[in-house]
Amino acid sequence: MSQTLYSLAQTQNNPLDSLEEWEEDLLNRYPDPNSIVKEGKTIEAYRNYETTTRDTVKEFYRLNHIKQTYNFVLQKKADFLKFDKQEMTVWDAIEFLNQLVDDSDPDTDLDQLQHLLQTSEAIRADGHPDWMVLTGFLHDMGKVLCLFGEPQWSTVGDTYPVGCAFSDRIVFSEFFQDNPDRHNPLYNTKYGIYEPNCGLSNVQMSWGHDEYIYHMLKDYLPEPALYILRYHSFYPQHRENAYAHLMDKHDKEMFKWVKLFNPYDLYSKNPNPPNWQTLRPYYEDLAAKYLPATLKF
Ligand SMILES: [Fe+2]
Ligand SMILES: [Fe+2]
Repeated sequence: MSQTLYSLAQTQNNPLDSLEEWEEDLLNRYPDPNSIVKEGKTIEAYRNYETTTRDTVKEFYRLNHIKQTYNFVLQKKADFLKFDKQEMTVWDAIEFLNQLVDDSDPDTDLDQLQHLLQTSEAIRADGHPDWMVLTGFLHDMGKVLCLFGEPQWSTVGDTYPVGCAFSDRIVFSEFFQDNPDRHNPLYNTKYGIYEPNCGLSNVQMSWGHDEYIYHMLKDYLPEPALYILRYHSFYPQHRENAYAHLMDKHDKEMFKWVKLFNPYDLYSKNPNPPNWQTLRPYYEDLAAKYLPATLKF
C-alpha cells in the first residue's frame, strides 16, 4: 500500500483525535453529580447525549461494535496474553505510554501519566488502602496496546460480554446490527454460550486495555484490585446494570469496588496537577511492595 493509502486506512480505523476523546464522551454521558450542582445545571441538560455526540466518537463506537466478536476476542487474547512483546519497568512503561499524545491539542490535554497520577492521588487523599492507590496508578497502562499497533476500538471504549446478546443498554447499541455475532444463533440469545449467573470469570469480555492489564497484573494484586482493573470500562454493568444475569454472588460483592473506583477515574481531573518529581519516591516504594522489578507486555 502506498504511504498515503496506508495513512488513510489508519485514520479510518482510528477516528478519534486521541484516546481521551472516548473519556470525554464518558463525562458527557455520566456527568459528575457534584459539578452539575455547582454549575447550576440540571440532569435534563445532559439527556440529549446521543444527538450531541461528536461524529468521530460515534464512528469509534460503530467500529468497536461491529468488530468486537467472540472470535476476535479469542484471537487477541491468544496473541497479547503471551506477553512476548516487551519487558519494561513500570517507569519505562509509563514513559512509553506517554508517547500517546493528543494530536489535536497537545498543550492543553493532560498526558497519560497525569491522568494516572490524578486518579491515584484522589484515591490516596480519601484514605483508601495502598493497593487501591496503586491500582489507580496502573489502571490505564494497558493503553500501550495502541502503541503495539492496535486500533483505538480494540484498546479503549466501553467493554461488554461477547458470546451472548449485546444489551441495548450499551452505548449506541444499534451499531451491533452489523456485528456478525448478532446474527449467529450461538451468540445472539440472552445467555448465548453461558449459563445463568455463571460468574464473570467464565465470561469473555470485549478486548481492550482493561482485560490486558488485568492479565498482566493478576498474580500481584488483591482480588478487588483485579476486579477494578478488569471491569473499569464495563459501564454497561457498573453504571447500567445490564448483565447482572451473568454475575454470581461473589461478582456482585466485588463490584462494590468497581463502583467505588469509577468516580476517581472519571472525575479526578485536577486544575492543580500533582507534581510527579515530588511524588515519585512514594510510587516507587508502592510499586516495589507489590510488583516485580519488570513487567512483561
Ligand atoms: Fe481505562
Ligand atoms: Fe482512566
